[in-house]
Amino acid sequence: MTGCDALYVHVPFCARRCTYCDFDFVVGRTPKTQAWLAGIAAELEARRDELATPLRTIYFGGGTPSLLGPAGLLAAGALLAPWIRRDALAEFTVELNPEHVDAALLAALATIGAGRVSLGVQSFEPAALQQLGRAHDPARAIAAVRACLAAGLSTSVDLIVGWPGQDAAALDRDLDRVLELGVGHVSVYALTIEAGTSWPKLVRRGLRVLPDDEGQAAALERTHARLVEAGFDHYEIASYARPGRHARHNGAYWSWRDYVGIGPSAASARYARDGSVTRRTNPRGLEAWSRGAAPEIEGLGGIEAAAEGLWLALRTAAGVDPAVDAAWVHGRVARRVERGDLRWVDGQLATAPGRWMVLDGIAADVLAAPDAAPR
Ligand SMILES: C[S@@+](CC[C@H](N)C(=O)[O-])C[C@H]1O[C@@H](n2cnc3c(N)ncnc32)[C@H](O)[C@@H]1O
Ligand code: SF4
Repeated sequence: MTGCDALYVHVPFCARRCTYCDFDFVVGRTPKTQAWLAGIAAELEARRDELATPLRTIYFGGGTPSLLGPAGLLAAGALLAPWIRRDALAEFTVELNPEHVDAALLAALATIGAGRVSLGVQSFEPAALQQLGRAHDPARAIAAVRACLAAGLSTSVDLIVGWPGQDAAALDRDLDRVLELGVGHVSVYALTIEAGTSWPKLVRRGLRVLPDDEGQAAALERTHARLVEAGFDHYEIASYARPGRHARHNGAYWSWRDYVGIGPSAASARYARDGSVTRRTNPRGLEAWSRGAAPEIEGLGGIEAAAEGLWLALRTAAGVDPAVDAAWVHGRVARRVERGDLRWVDGQLATAPGRWMVLDGIAADVLAAPDAAPR
């Protein structure tokens, strides 16, 4: 079995609970760093054979990796050091919350070899930051982005659009700010309200309203138009990059490549020669994961795996090269091609311009179509 060179590391700590978020994290000002580091060391050892040396991409996501602080990041970097050769490491990203960015944290990133950061800005508008329950204010977000760029880090900003009360002028102010700051990558998400987060409870108490679908669609369209006009490539449904700034690690998720995820709730995928895939999801929660609760293992046979791969590839602007079996791919997507949601260009299948907002419907079709397995 050859090892996989794309590693995701989940850091399950947040200082507070943002009102909209249902990612896997433990809330508390002091993260249980030692317990997490011990678990990471144990999982690296237990899954040694699944990992390649040297790794090509590493991604620290959360939760809030920056809550580990410089010492925690240095300790995590030391655990990974045996798998890293700097000249072979194409990308090492760490998610940072703006309020944690300072000289010591940036120095720690340099020491462990992380050259890319993803900053959870969400918005520069006070009204948004307050509703979303964020710990930073606009000035802190701007200072954090500037500090990361000044440190020479490849810098991505996360934006949430379509929050209640965001009109076109407010969206434009956020986009103007991102463009002025000069980042090379932007991830854009429409605010999604998940059951189990505090947002629905706040709605019941009259303290929040739900975002409206039309406003969100308009915000996504406007964001696309403005970022593309400014020279960004909209290369994946939620991702925009200046030339040469496309995220490489996430590419594995969308293109039938293996990835290994360690830490609570982290997902892994391994593709076999026959096209089937084995998915593994680690137990959710620091406590269950630390005591070694069993992961969830799911096997997708050839046809399910191919349908899922097709759907994931459609999230990207590059789309699908139907090398697997052109007739099978044609059959699966015919209805959506007829409706103009998907189109063929030079033998390559892609989502039609402006149709990525109906991707959920396309997914349902592509994943559900009953037919024979691809050859
Ligand atoms: C896994 S979160 C972690 C990032 C980091 N802890 C932070 O909050 O800055 C990654 C990104 O997902 C996005 N996100 C999380 N929950 C969301 C939701 N319910 N709706 C829209 N975007 C969401 C946010 O933009 C966030 O920055
Ligand atoms: S958005 Fe980020 S900081 Fe907020 S709760 Fe989710 S993971 Fe934690």
